[in-house]
Amino acid sequence: MNPRNGLNFSGGPGALPESVLREVQQAIIEVPEVGLSVLGISHRSDWFAAVVTELENNIRSLLGLGDDYHVLLLQGGATQQYTMVPMSLLLPGGAPADYLDTGYWSAKVLPEARRQGPIRVVWSGQDNGFRRLPVDEELQFATTAPYLHYVSNETVEGLQFHRMLGSDEVVRVCDMSSDFLSRPIEANRFGLIYAHAQKNVGPAGVTVVVVRDELIKNAPEDLPGFLDYRSHARAHSNFNTPPVFAIYVVLLVTRWLMQEIGGLNAMDALNRTKAALLYDVLDSSESFYQGRAAVADRSLMNVAFNLSNTALEQRFIAEAEAAGFSGLKGHRAIGGLRASLYNAVTLEAVEKLASFMADFRHRQQR
Ligand SMILES: Cc1ncc(COP(=O)(O)O)c(C=O)c1O
Repeated sequence: MNPRNGLNFSGGPGALPESVLREVQQAIIEVPEVGLSVLGISHRSDWFAAVVTELENNIRSLLGLGDDYHVLLLQGGATQQYTMVPMSLLLPGGAPADYLDTGYWSAKVLPEARRQGPIRVVWSGQDNGFRRLPVDEELQFATTAPYLHYVSNETVEGLQFHRMLGSDEVVRVCDMSSDFLSRPIEANRFGLIYAHAQKNVGPAGVTVVVVRDELIKNAPEDLPGFLDYRSHARAHSNFNTPPVFAIYVVLLVTRWLMQEIGGLNAMDALNRTKAALLYDVLDSSESFYQGRAAVADRSLMNVAFNLSNTALEQRFIAEAEAAGFSGLKGHRAIGGLRASLYNAVTLEAVEKLASFMADFRHRQQR
């Protein structure tokens, strides 16, 4: 395999495990048990029904989900959920839903939600340039809200909540697109979780939605079928032609997570070790590398940082590319640098990046 594949720090679509890529390579030619390319197998086949069932079961078991949850495999990315959530859960004439404005992706959610009904922004990080997340004392949630929506990991700014927000009285809805299955969570205390696949669990094209049954029962009756969670639940994620290939790859990634990594606790331990390595490089650099996020809110998935000027940042990118690293450019909205450490990025790759960063600094300071 091209060594650059192993040094992919892209913000998303991100790296996938090498063993999965090899299985996918084989499946594109022929899925052994079917004798056909995965790209040409019917979504109505028994094989695909078994893929969906196994994937649902894997996600249920990784998250410890109760029987009262649906695991849905939808299209439209995380963006479609910005609309589907309020369409289904905001009740006509009812109280506003509580939303947090913690970064680039939260800010994308708000206008879409407002189109569907009343929402209230409980806290915004705009004034601090999205460099930190709120502490509990700053958050006054309404007990009358139909739900509370937040983004667990702000991919662009590299901010991550290291606790669950809200109380059990109000339904929690969370965009976990960039930290899904990267650590254990108390999934049964959320009403709805959504996460597109292309960070931690697969290629773009499929979005996993975990939703409690009682929540979708009372959605308006006149929703368009495609935007109604109930249609997808009834059809076992086969309402129209689903992205068979993407779903198959997500299945392989969950197998890898369970069988090779050893589950979410093991994944979390590895992810913590990886992030600590890079944050140590930042912290011991005497401000040569400046972390973007407040220390308490640093993301284990996206390490966002700056150098003292853009020329130096460009030199960093150029030298990193020449050394085989990719994906280190910060998001176009805020610039700077960002190393994304999704599940499939290996400890070895992070060690190499940490040592490249230490070398780069010494070379500039000589
Ligand atoms: C946390 C988060 N939410 C939502 C999105 C948007 O996802 P999509 O492009 O799948 O609609 C992204 C994209 O990177 C993201 O990081």
